[in-house]
Amino acid sequence: MKLKKKLLALSSALGLLLLILGLFAFKADLNSDKGYVVPNGPWENLKVLPQDISKDSLEFLMNNYATSLGVKCKHCHAVSKKDPTKLDFPSDAKMEKEIGRGMIKMTNEINATYFQPHFPDPKPEQVSVVNCVLCHRGTTNPEKYLAQMGAMYKTYDPDRDNRKEKFQEEMGK
Ligand code: HEC
Ligand code: HEC
Repeated sequence: MKLKKKLLALSSALGLLLLILGLFAFKADLNSDKGYVVPNGPWENLKVLPQDISKDSLEFLMNNYATSLGVKCKHCHAVSKKDPTKLDFPSDAKMEKEIGRGMIKMTNEINATYFQPHFPDPKPEQVSVVNCVLCHRGTTNPEKYLAQMGAMYKTYDPDRDNRKEKFQEEMGK
């Protein structure tokens, strides 16, 4: 009985993972940014990701973020002041990057706190059941997106105090 439950939990977790991976594979090509050059490191301004993260891993994560939100790199990264055809990746000029840091921390915390015990062989730092795309589904604001799906889901109040959106509107976005 107990074993059955464990197997069920494991297979549904695996199913979810496969679904997420499938979504990535499907959308990866559509949204990837062309023309940017990721430097080789050392990274200049990492506050959440490991300092010694490899170029491949960083690039994979960044593509992953962009795809999950349905945006390009420049949604979070400011344009370089020296060369407007390039992005200044270490710069913290864009609010979206700082929100992104909070989101990375939140996602890591959810995985570490709630998902590890469901795996028979827990591998700390490697569990990623909850992922950006699980909430975002290719939009920057999943809360708003769900509200637009119809009357069945009414949690988003456009008149509430949302300083972030007001600021973005003022900046002409
Ligand atoms: C959803 C927001 C978001 C998107 C989209 C995004 N990034 Fe990032 N990026 C971040 C955050 C947040 C950090 C800093 C992570 C930290 O502090 O540990 C970062 C850091 C980086 C760095 C390291 C800079 C340094 O030296 O400190 C590079 C390089 C980078 N991103 C490249 C890219 C590329 C290329 C793309 C497009 C494929 C991209 N990013 C898309 C949020 C984003
Ligand atoms: C538990 C659900 C959830 C997960 C997981 C999640 N997000 Fe979010 N995110 C939201 C919601 C809801 C909003 C909109 C409300 C807000 O901005 O406070 C949002 C907003 C954002 C924004 C602001 C976008 C804009 O242009 O206004 C960024 C950037 C972002 N998320 C990045 C990420 C990244 C990167 C990940 C994965 C590391 C992630 N999110 C995972 C729910 C989530």
